[in-house]
Amino acid sequence: MFAGKKILVGICGGIAAYKICELVRELQRQGARIRTMLTPAATRFISPLTFASLTSAPAAVDLFAPSADDIEHIELAKWPDMIIITPATATTIAKCAHGLADNIVTATVLATRKPVMFIPAMNTGMWENPATANNVMRLHDFGYRVVEPEFGAMATRIEGAGAGRLPETETIISHVFQYQWPDKILDGVPLTITAGRTVEKIDPVRFISNHSTGRMGFAIANVAAAMGARVKLVHGPTHLRPPANVETFSVESARDMFEFTREHYPENGILIAAAAVADYRPLHYSCSKIKKQKDEFALPLIKNPDILLELKKLKNKSIHIGFALETNDVLANAAAKLSKKNLDFIVINNPVDEGAGFAFKTNKVKMLFPGGKILDFPLKDKLEVAAEILQNATRLLINKRATE
Ligand code: C5P
Repeated sequence: MFAGKKILVGICGGIAAYKICELVRELQRQGARIRTMLTPAATRFISPLTFASLTSAPAAVDLFAPSADDIEHIELAKWPDMIIITPATATTIAKCAHGLADNIVTATVLATRKPVMFIPAMNTGMWENPATANNVMRLHDFGYRVVEPEFGAMATRIEGAGAGRLPETETIISHVFQYQWPDKILDGVPLTITAGRTVEKIDPVRFISNHSTGRMGFAIANVAAAMGARVKLVHGPTHLRPPANVETFSVESARDMFEFTREHYPENGILIAAAAVADYRPLHYSCSKIKKQKDEFALPLIKNPDILLELKKLKNKSIHIGFALETNDVLANAAAKLSKKNLDFIVINNPVDEGAGFAFKTNKVKMLFPGGKILDFPLKDKLEVAAEILQNATRLLINKRATE
């Protein structure tokens, strides 16, 4: 996700400082090169040695320490592709909002010309204080990105009291990923995605479902948000955390997924159906647990609405993209779906390809277009597959808008 990217992480003196170790590790796992710097207060919470060990590079703490070729904060300011300040405390935010440069972190922020993202975490009272709110506004005005802290459990144990919690590592990664995305080709475009599996209840303890994890759809949502789209993600049960800057709707059954997707249909935008929707549901739901009976047991099923087929009726200026997961007659089956559902293209995954399909972080796809054109891709990270899908969708949307 961050292959070759140089990221400088500035750690401030908040209790969430310990969580930044995991963030640094995760950024490294995703290919980033990391250097760190700590405010004096941060060193009271966590040792610079921890970060030096994790990154195999010195953690900068001293504003006055000379480096080999430059003054340290000037050298640090030039080195990265981007800077992350986290947990950004009220004090560091206030200093940066007023151009103060009294430690290695604030001095580097003042000196740099690189993109800077603040990820605050603090006590709710401090976050909601008008002084902090005002300073955050100043940071926005200066062109910095400030991520909203979350609601939830905090070290001060005023659970549910308000915002101030550091977002989970996965969410921070999604913010960083979107921030460093170079082109906003979908700026303001409405885009709705279905993702994951559906669950069709049989009785209070049993259901019909499938192995879909939602990874492909969530990756598309993440990249679409990075490209600037207004993303709505309608998803079934999953352990995945929603990407940043995406409006999510968590559903269970195919019928609920259909209702939400229809309600949030992307007029003049892009609809992507990546969900593995159950084709059938039990004809009757049993309110009590079905007891074991004879050796054979038949469960009558009834067809679910086909979301793409139903939403074809609404299609006017929007682009519709479907997925096909086939085990045999792959191309013929995909072509039949493409035309029946009036799609602009269909993404074909083959579940027998190594590293492709459910649960994997990678996927190997083909895209089939009306008229028979096929784009065949090698095994790629799902985020890269998502980017290919979205670039093709954008091209088609631009063409469609141009021909009106
Ligand atoms: O016809 P089939 O289910 O194989 O088509 C797969 C495509 O149709 C996928 O894009 C899937 O998300 C979508 N689909 C749907 N509603 C259903 C079943 C599938 O939108 N009930």
